[in-house]
Amino acid sequence: MTRIAQTTSLPRRATFLPRRATFLQRLATLLTLLAGTPSLAPAADTSPAAGGKAARDPAQIFATACGWCHYKAGREAGKGPQLMGTTLTDEQIALRIRKGRQGFMPGFESSFSDQEIAALVGYIRALKPR
Ligand code: HEC
Repeated sequence: MTRIAQTTSLPRRATFLPRRATFLQRLATLLTLLAGTPSLAPAADTSPAAGGKAARDPAQIFATACGWCHYKAGREAGKGPQLMGTTLTDEQIALRIRKGRQGFMPGFESSFSDQEIAALVGYIRALKPR
């Protein structure tokens, strides 16, 4: 029974193969067309000077992402502690920004590039009373 079924299915297979080739050809044509379509993504600053992707200004980042918890641009305590004059090392600050602290502060590792995190560390270090 099985053997008969196999032999009878052979011609069907033979006719299926060319159809499959046609499908693949169509797919190839479609992909060629898509590749030629101009990207709809907004133009980003990818100049080498900008390091491939434009890094945002740390003061600006701080104002939007951190300032609502670390008051006066980091100079005073708010929901979070004062950052100006912190005794943490650069590594500890960077780690805190990346990972946050559960229940206290969100982690930002998926929001900012390494470059931007380093710039934020520099920003916190440079904070002076005003
Ligand atoms: C939702 C409020 C909140 C936001 C937003 C927030 N923080 Fe925090 N942050 C805190 C709290 C609360 C702590 C203290 C947590 C603890 O007790 O360890 C803290 C601690 C820190 C510390 C450690 C300070 C120390 O002396 O121990 C650093 C550095 C820091 N935050 C930087 C940042 C930066 C930079 C951003 C923005 C990218 C940011 N935080 C955004 C609430 C926040």
